[in-house]
Amino acid sequence: MELKLDRITKQFREKIAVDHLSETFTSGVYGLLGANGAGKTTLMRMICDVLKPTSGQILLDDVPIEQFGDGYRAHLGYLPQDFGYYPDFSAYDFMRYLANLKGLASRFAKVKTDELLDMVGLSSVAKQKIKTFSGGMKQRLGIAQAVLNDPSILVLDEPTAGLDPKERVRFRNLISSLAQNKIVILSTHIVSDVEYIADKILFMRCGTIVSAGTVDQIVGEMRGSVWECIVAPREANAMAARMPVGNIHYGRDGQVIVRLVSESRPREDARAVEPTLEDVYLHLFQAQPSLISRRRGAHHE
Ligand SMILES: Nc1ncnc2c1ncn2[C@@H]1O[C@H](COP(=O)(O)OP(=O)(O)O)[C@@H](O)[C@H]1O
Ligand SMILES: [Mg+2]
Repeated sequence: MELKLDRITKQFREKIAVDHLSETFTSGVYGLLGANGAGKTTLMRMICDVLKPTSGQILLDDVPIEQFGDGYRAHLGYLPQDFGYYPDFSAYDFMRYLANLKGLASRFAKVKTDELLDMVGLSSVAKQKIKTFSGGMKQRLGIAQAVLNDPSILVLDEPTAGLDPKERVRFRNLISSLAQNKIVILSTHIVSDVEYIADKILFMRCGTIVSAGTVDQIVGEMRGSVWECIVAPREANAMAARMPVGNIHYGRDGQVIVRLVSESRPREDARAVEPTLEDVYLHLFQAQPSLISRRRGAHHE
């Protein structure tokens, strides 16, 4: 199955939330990484046919999705960012209710509900009210409902928001196990959520994809541009003012390790280090404010 976005744009009044974005999805896990306001939710809502693009087309195996009518939804599983759980429903009743809305036959829905609650580790609390659940339990229930109809396209909008580190790991493993022969598109602003499970990373900024590839490809492009220097605290501040600095680690001995991205060696004693996806993220998303402040500075001169 191939899902193709062909120059899709979404404009809300003056705001262009998604801007002529093109991408082709085949089976695998896609990690959509971007800061708040990048356009991730708007893009996902268009993919799920909740929102119509202002222009451009979405095609499933080369057929525009409008041509499928309601049939398109049958291929989809969607966990929205602001998913509404019914606090007084039990997990079991909630699943049966949604199965009903999705038009699943009753007997099949019962079997499927049991199977999915087991898969997401909620069997033992199936009869408890959702309002007693932790964030991680709610999100696992959110995944379970999204796959009730065996979707071939699974869209998860910030599914790890509010999870603790242990729940995050569990969630990642669950998504990996689900991903076979499916298109899974997962949005997040947390690099480690997708670093290990995404077959392809899409960095989104201002409604467009600014960088895309496997983790190895994206990280590889930065090789030779990530540096660490050990400096005095005052120098660390001066460096941060001059160039986008990633991590600053204050050691106990009063020295500071500064990690930064720079095409050329930033200091004589800087050491080239192996880049990580987080370096790429910080580079892509930090470059912006520093550019803006530089432009502002130029304006005042
Ligand atoms: N319904 C809407 N009306 C007006 N502006 C919107 C609407 N939805 C999103 N936006 C704007 O579009 C931009 C992208 O938003 P969104 O897709 O929610 O980004 P993300 O999910 O990456 O945080 C933001 O500037 C947001 O304010
Ligand atoms: Mg969002």
